[in-house]
Amino acid sequence: MTELKNDRFLKALLKQPVDRTPIWMMRQAGRYLPEYRATRAQAGDFLSLCKNADLACEVTIQPLDRYPLDAAILFSDILTVPDAMGLGLYFEEGEGPKFKQTIRSEKDLDLLSTPKMEDELGYVMNAVRTIRRELNGRVPLIGFTGSPWTLATYMIEGGSSKEFRHAKAMIYNQPDVMHELLNRLALVVTDYLNAQIEAGAQAVQIFDSWGGALSHAAYLEFSLKYMQQIIGGLKREHDGRQVPVILFTKGGGQWLEPMAESGADALGLDWTTSLTDARRRVGNKVALQGNMDPSVLYASPDRIRDEVERILSEYGQGTGHVFNLGHGIHQFVDPANAGAFVEAVVELSPKYHR
Ligand code: CP3
Repeated sequence: MTELKNDRFLKALLKQPVDRTPIWMMRQAGRYLPEYRATRAQAGDFLSLCKNADLACEVTIQPLDRYPLDAAILFSDILTVPDAMGLGLYFEEGEGPKFKQTIRSEKDLDLLSTPKMEDELGYVMNAVRTIRRELNGRVPLIGFTGSPWTLATYMIEGGSSKEFRHAKAMIYNQPDVMHELLNRLALVVTDYLNAQIEAGAQAVQIFDSWGGALSHAAYLEFSLKYMQQIIGGLKREHDGRQVPVILFTKGGGQWLEPMAESGADALGLDWTTSLTDARRRVGNKVALQGNMDPSVLYASPDRIRDEVERILSEYGQGTGHVFNLGHGIHQFVDPANAGAFVEAVVELSPKYHR
């Protein structure tokens, strides 16, 4: 077991006392950093960057060299899973992710294979091992996956979508096909997270980026149920340490009570929910992560600091809060403003832990 020099992120997720509120940023390695753009150019393109363990490690650590962050997140993508299941992921410049094949019917399910984790997804595990070695206990490493529902939207639509026309039609017209697809994804994702944990991921986050697009009933039946199935199948301890699980449904503020029963240790919140409210509603069951609107980073450092203070006071005294943005950092943010944000959390949060 390597000694962790900074474990306040893991402690806060488990509601153990900390000296200050830990912080990391969703999408902290990315295009807003000039050094990321340089490494990506060296790799050639985004997918080649994900598949090169040394370069993926380099971009994972870049934000930690700039800011006093309390966690690193594996540099990869949620769409590696449908790619490994056979759908053929590619990126078209300026258009986001696309798949060569889509799942629209029962027959299309035959296109899907069950990937071997150290084979088709071996590059992800290699990246995890390389990053752990390079971090050398500096901060914990977060592994991640997309939720079955969120992955299914890309597999059914063939790329990004605003309305989820085909995916939602499948829920209502072919619910059995949808359940079969989600069940297969849940099995693969359980394996995928366990392989990341074996390789060295010290906490894991499930990104349910599009759960908030569902009706109340459909969220419980088509998204939360499968995340709960995954969480039930995860290794919760590795190398003598507990491995906390974070569940993040963007737009999921109305479902905090059922989410808190999912078995997750912490819930990620976007900026539409008040932390005071959320804390009252989940009680002692889970920790909370979030939830500054990423657009605040377009404001001045003084304004950013005020917003950090407001969010810290919304959560209030004590452990169980991991500071984060409510969604990924935008590509046009000035890196200096991201720095002002992290510093504000470091400077203003100790008084909430005395
Ligand atoms: O947080 C991190 O620093 C780790 C890396 C990470 C990426 N994607 C890198 C990435 C993580 C955790 C993800 C997750 C991801 N990928 C999600 C869930 C999180 C969320 O934001 O809701 C989703 C929906 C995807 C799918 C995806 N990947 C899209 C829609 C895009 C294009 C979006 C865009 O901004 O162009 C990607 C590409 C992608 N993934 C980039 C990065 C840094 C940009 C690629 C580039 O360098 O051009």
